Amino acid sequence: MTPANVRVPAKINLCLGVGPVRDDGYHPLATVYQAVDLHDEVRATPRDDDEITVTVHSDLDARTEVAIVPENDDNLAVKAARLLRDRTGVTAGVDLAIRKVIPVAGGMAGGSADAAAALVACNEAWGTGLTRAALEVLAAQLGSDVPFLLHGGNAIGGGRGETVSPVLARGSYHWVFAMAHEGLSTRAVFAEFDRLNAGSTVADPTVTDALLAALRAGDPLALGNALSNDLTEAALSLRPELEDTLSIGIEAGALGAILSGSGPTAMFLATDEQHSLDIAFALSSASGCADVVQSRGPVPGARLA
Ligand code: C5P
Repeated sequence: MTPANVRVPAKINLCLGVGPVRDDGYHPLATVYQAVDLHDEVRATPRDDDEITVTVHSDLDARTEVAIVPENDDNLAVKAARLLRDRTGVTAGVDLAIRKVIPVAGGMAGGSADAAAALVACNEAWGTGLTRAALEVLAAQLGSDVPFLLHGGNAIGGGRGETVSPVLARGSYHWVFAMAHEGLSTRAVFAEFDRLNAGSTVADPTVTDALLAALRAGDPLALGNALSNDLTEAALSLRPELEDTLSIGIEAGALGAILSGSGPTAMFLATDEQHSLDIAFALSSASGCADVVQSRGPVPGARLA
């Protein structure tokens, strides 16, 4: 048993179609995920006893609010380690050390990313030898976005987000992310979605042909026009000031501007590096932005570092 280090990306949703709430409280989704190069790191160090511990650290406190990430059994990375241990009969414990770069409660699946990374790191550190496919089954039990964060790249997400299937895509895209001062609860945004859309939700959300064609062609202009997010109205209803952030990016010439997942991170598509720098500069003085980051996607999913 040896320590293992895993790097895991954040995700964005290029489109996010949301259907009516199911009996289990989740919403059916039709989404295209993209993994972007904003990475958390999880280090798993095996223990001689059976304790599972977690520490969370960040050099970017303004963005990542690590203070609100639990350093106990509520941490999704701890739940991931526990689930893997239960399924494999391992008796050892592990110390998990998380280094956060992905914004906390930012709509970029930071908690799910850490769970995906913990699965890969513990699988290596404990020598449990589960295949990626077997890890994906465990991932789906931990959260809707966790399987995609193992997968990475671009993928279509169905079910409640946990079923991941390949999508034909080419190109590398330049993104700018505007992080808000305070996170938003995914659960609260979905609840607001239900309140606003009572009885009027499309039963079977689908991914648009325009988005799939843009990705197949690797065409950023077409992709910018095809970006969409059904949670926009709900997130803006809880955080009206996000409208200003989106407007600033659009005025700076972004090819497309939407909220990432349930928000509050706003994402902007740029044509190239210089354009991305121009958009980032325009956003950096916006009062609603705690941090502005230039990024690229797609990138691979959770991998040993
Ligand atoms: O799957 P995960 O635990 O990440 O989801 C967090 C919360 O977001 C859920 O408890 C649920 O309230 C909401 N959610 C939803 N429909 C989805 C995914 C998440 O309502 N498809």
